[in-house]
Amino acid sequence: MRPDSARIIRLADYTAPAWLIETVHIDATLDDTRTRVIATLHLKPNPNMASGPLVLDGDELVLESLALDDVTIPTSAYTIDRRTLTLNNTPNRPFKLTVITLLDPAANTQLMGLYRSSGNYCTQCEAEGFRRITFFLDRPDVMAVFTTRIVAKKDEAPVLLGNGNRVEAGDLPDGWHYAIWHDPHPKPAYLFALVGGRLGKVGGSFTTRSGRKVELGIYVESGKENRAGYALDALIRSMRWDEEAFGCEYDLDVFNIVAVSDFNMGAMENKGLNIFNDKYVLASPETATDADYANIEAIIAHEYFHNWTGNRITCRDWFQLCLKEGLTVFRDQEFSADQRSRAVKRIADVRNLRSQQFTEDSGPLAHPVRPYEYHEINNFYTPTVYEKGAELIRMLKILLGAELFRQGMDLYLTRCDGTAATIEEFIQCFVDASGRDLTHFAKWYGQAGTPHVAITEIFDPASGQYRIGFTQMTPATPGQPAKEAMVIPIALAFFAKDGQELKLKPSLGQIDNDVFVLESEKSELVFEALKEKPILSALRGFSAPIVLQIDTTDEERLVMLAHDTDPFNRWQAAQGYAMKLLKAGAIAKREGREPYFDSRFADALAHALRGQDHALIAQVLALPSENDIAREIGADVDPDAVRESRLGLRKAIGEQIGHELHALWLSLTSTESYRPDSKSAGSRALRNVALDLLAVGMPEIGLGLAEQQYRSADNMTDRFAALAILAQHSGPAREEALTHFAHAFETDPLVLDKWFSLQASIPEAETLDRVKRLMGHPGFSMKNPNRLRSLVGAFAASNPSQFNRADGAGYDLVSDIIINTDRANPQVAARILGAFKTWRTLEPKRRALAEAALRKIADQDPLSPDVSDIVTRTLA
Ligand code: BES
Ligand code: ZN
Repeated sequence: MRPDSARIIRLADYTAPAWLIETVHIDATLDDTRTRVIATLHLKPNPNMASGPLVLDGDELVLESLALDDVTIPTSAYTIDRRTLTLNNTPNRPFKLTVITLLDPAANTQLMGLYRSSGNYCTQCEAEGFRRITFFLDRPDVMAVFTTRIVAKKDEAPVLLGNGNRVEAGDLPDGWHYAIWHDPHPKPAYLFALVGGRLGKVGGSFTTRSGRKVELGIYVESGKENRAGYALDALIRSMRWDEEAFGCEYDLDVFNIVAVSDFNMGAMENKGLNIFNDKYVLASPETATDADYANIEAIIAHEYFHNWTGNRITCRDWFQLCLKEGLTVFRDQEFSADQRSRAVKRIADVRNLRSQQFTEDSGPLAHPVRPYEYHEINNFYTPTVYEKGAELIRMLKILLGAELFRQGMDLYLTRCDGTAATIEEFIQCFVDASGRDLTHFAKWYGQAGTPHVAITEIFDPASGQYRIGFTQMTPATPGQPAKEAMVIPIALAFFAKDGQELKLKPSLGQIDNDVFVLESEKSELVFEALKEKPILSALRGFSAPIVLQIDTTDEERLVMLAHDTDPFNRWQAAQGYAMKLLKAGAIAKREGREPYFDSRFADALAHALRGQDHALIAQVLALPSENDIAREIGADVDPDAVRESRLGLRKAIGEQIGHELHALWLSLTSTESYRPDSKSAGSRALRNVALDLLAVGMPEIGLGLAEQQYRSADNMTDRFAALAILAQHSGPAREEALTHFAHAFETDPLVLDKWFSLQASIPEAETLDRVKRLMGHPGFSMKNPNRLRSLVGAFAASNPSQFNRADGAGYDLVSDIIINTDRANPQVAARILGAFKTWRTLEPKRRALAEAALRKIADQDPLSPDVSDIVTRTLA
C-alpha cells in the first residue's frame, strides 16, 4: 500500500485557493513517448485570501524546466514530491509561470491525462487528470481562460481538436502542422481536452434560438462514419430540448464529439469537445440494439446538458459533485422521457436506482449524496451521487411544483453563471424563487441510507373510518448510526375494487396535488364515512427514493395491475406480486421445499398482454433480477436458491400462458425494416420477452422460434435477443449460434463485447471455465476497459450464482484479475471490485470465501489508492 493512501480529504477543511490562474496557454507537441507540453500560466494572488506559497498539483510528471516571468527558476527554489510542486518564494503580485513537462502517452495505461487510443491522442482530465499533463492548481474552483496550441505530424494526426473555437491552423516544416484553439469561457482544468489523430468526421449544424449557427462534428475512427448519424441526431434534439425545457442555449460556434475505443467511463463533457467511449456513439441497425440507441441518446444529451449544469456553473470542490451530476442526470432523464415514453423511462430509471443505488446505500460503501470525506475522488462517481442525486432534484420539483421549480432553475442559471458553486447556493435559488423553507429538505444531501416508509391501513367497517399510518426509519450506515426523519413526498391515489378511481379528501392530514408529504417520523391521514376500504396506490411515479413497506393484498395488486391510472404503479403492482413469489420461492428452495406457484399471477400477465403500450407490457413481464431478489432477502442469501426460484417462476409462467405468448410473438412479427424509434423498440422488447418466457416454459416451441429469429433477424436487437435466449439453454444449438455470432462479428469489438457479456452471464457451473477460455480469445484484451468490463465485469456483476460459487472459484478468478488490472488501470480495477459490496448478505460459507478474497486484495503491495479505498471500506 502506498504510504499516503490513508490520506483523507474533508469537506469541512475547504479553503479557497491562495492563488488564482487567469489564463493558461498550453502548447503540446504530440509524440508517442515524448510529448512536450509548454504551459504558460498567468497567476495572481487571490485577493480574498492571505498570501501563501504556490503549491501546484502534479502526478507522474517529468519536469523539464520552470520559469517565472521568463527567468528560469533554479531547482533550489522549488521542491517536488510525489504529488506536488511547491514554489517557495513567490512574489506577492501577478506573475507568469512557464512550466515545461515531458509526457509518455504510449505508457499511460491509466487512461487519465494524455494517452493513446487506437493510434490517436486524447485526454481525460476529470477529476484529477490535468495534473498528469502539467503542474497546475488542479481543483474545480480555479477557473481560467484556456488557449491550446497542438502540434503534430500531419500524417499521424491530421485532425487536431481543442476546447472552444479554432482560431488558427497551419503547416510547419518537415511534415508537421498545428492548430490553435481558444475557449473564451473560464473553466476549471478538469474540462480541458485535446485530441489529435486520424479521424473521420460526420458534420452538421444547429442554429440556436438567438440565431447563433453552431458547427457540429462527430469524430470517429475512419471507416465508422456511417455509424455516427444517430449520435448527431440525438445531439441536435438535445440542443433544441435544452432551449425549450430549461432555456439553455449553446455558447460557442463549434461543438465537437470524439469517440475513442479506450475510455474508463461512458463519456466526458469537456467544454466544446466532448470525448466519448465509442460504445455510446457508434450505432447501426446491424450492430446496435434498441438499448444501445437509447443509451446513446441519453449520454449524448447528458454530456451536452453539462454545458450549463457543470461547465458554465461548475462545482466549488468535488464534494459538490452531485451539483452537476445529479442535476444533469435528472435533466437527461427528463429529455429521454420527453423523447420516448415517460412511464417506461421512469420504470427503467427506478429499476436501475434500486439495483445499483439501493444496493450501495444498504452496504459498506453507503455515503451521502454529498459526502463529507473521501480518500479517492474517482470512487465517488457513484449511483448515490448520480442516481439518488437526480431523485433529490425530482423530489424538489414535486415539492415546489413545476412552475416554481423552473423559476428556481432560472435563478440558479443566472445567479451562479460563471462560478464554482455549492449545494447551498443551488438550494438558496429555490428558496428565493419559492419563498419556501428548504432547510429540512436539504438534509437529504447529508444523510446516507435509504429511508424505509411503512404504511399501515386501518379500516373500520362500522364507522367507515379509514386511517393510513406512515412511519419512516432509515437504517444505520457507515459513520452514521443515528438518522433523522427526512421530507418524503408520497404521491397517492385511491381505487374501488372495480378499479374506479376515488377522489378522497382526508378529515385529518393534508394531501396537495395528490401528494402527501411525510416530514416527521410518524404521521397519519384519516378519512371518514367510506363504504369499504379503498385500494391505496402509494408512491406513484416513485415520488421519493425510499423503500415502501405496505401490506398490499394480492387482490389489490391485481386491481392495480389492471386499473391503476399511474402506469408506474401498474408495473409496480406486477413487480411486487412477482417479488413476493420469488422471495418465497428462494426461501423454499434454500430449505429444500418446492415453491408454491400462484396461477392468478400468470393469468393477470396474460390479461396484461392485450394492452396497447408494448414497451410498458414488456416491463411488466420482465421479472425482478436475481440481484433484486437477493437484495430483498437481505441476509443469508443463497444465490443458487435465488436463481432456481427465478427460473422456476419464469418456467411456470411460460407453461401456463405459453400459447398466448406464442400468439403474441407471431402477431408482433414486423415486416418493416428496422427503425430505432421507441414505439417499434417497445414492440421488439415485448416480442422478445414473450419469446424468452415461451422458451423456458415450452422449450419445444420457443427454442425453435429463437433459432429461427436468430437466423432471420435484420437487426441486432432481435438477433441478440434470440442469441440470449439460446444461451440460457445448454446444448448444441447454443454453441452453434454462439460460434456463428463470433465469426459474423469478429472484426467488430463493440459487438464482440455483447458476446462476451452474454457468455459471462450464463448461470451454469461451466461458465467459469468459459470466461477463462474467453480471456484467451483474440478479440479480448485486458487493457481495454470495454473488453474487461464486458467479460469480467459482467461475470462479477450480473451472474450472481456463478460469481458467488459455493467453492469460491468465482471470487478467485475476479480477485486475481482485479489485482492484475490494478497495476495498469486502478480506476477500472476499483469499479470491478464493486461487485463484492454485497458480500455480507451472503450465507456464511460464501461470506467467508468472499472475505478471504477481499483480504487477499487488501494485502497486495503496492495497491492503488482507488482499490485500497474500496477494499478497505468493503471489509470495514
Ligand atoms: N463527468 C462525467 C464523466 C466522468 C465520470 C469523468 C467519472 C471522470 C470520472 C460524465 O458527465 C458522466 O457522468 N458520464 C457518465 C454517463 C452519464 C450518462 C451518467 C459515465 O461516464 O458513466
Ligand atoms: Zn455527468
